[in-house]
Amino acid sequence: MIAIASDHAGYALKGMLIDHLKERGVPVEDLGCGGEPVDYPLYADKLCRAIVEGKYERGILVCGTGIGMSIAANKIPGIRAALCGDCFSAEMSRQHNDANVLCLGGRVVGPELAKRIVDTYLDTGFSNGESHIRRIGQIRDLEK
Ligand code: RB5
Repeated sequence: MIAIASDHAGYALKGMLIDHLKERGVPVEDLGCGGEPVDYPLYADKLCRAIVEGKYERGILVCGTGIGMSIAANKIPGIRAALCGDCFSAEMSRQHNDANVLCLGGRVVGPELAKRIVDTYLDTGFSNGESHIRRIGQIRDLEK
């Protein structure tokens, strides 16, 4: 099960991504917003805390640029959020960084590119390479 959340600026893209995920048979839960003007850090917090608590395997956050969501998400210990505007970054975010949150900019990427980025992100596993495990451990150390 994955979670998705957005602010008002990411709301339209979020809806398209939910439809896409359902078509793909990926179980997804929408944690808001409902399109009304909201503050993105609150939604980043809600989704990321649920991931850290183990309620969801991974999450997708959408705001206007994806920047605010990624800044907020990466403040939460245990979260490795990747802002991606291309498929290569999405692939590397999983293989090298084991990113557990994908951030997208609803005012930056079009729906078709966003769907491909999401597919790449969801379909790519962590490499389990020794150097990447070590570096992720070093990131965890930064949280202390
Ligand atoms: C909201 O207008 C906008 O600032 C927000 O969606 C996001 O782009 C912030 O990083």
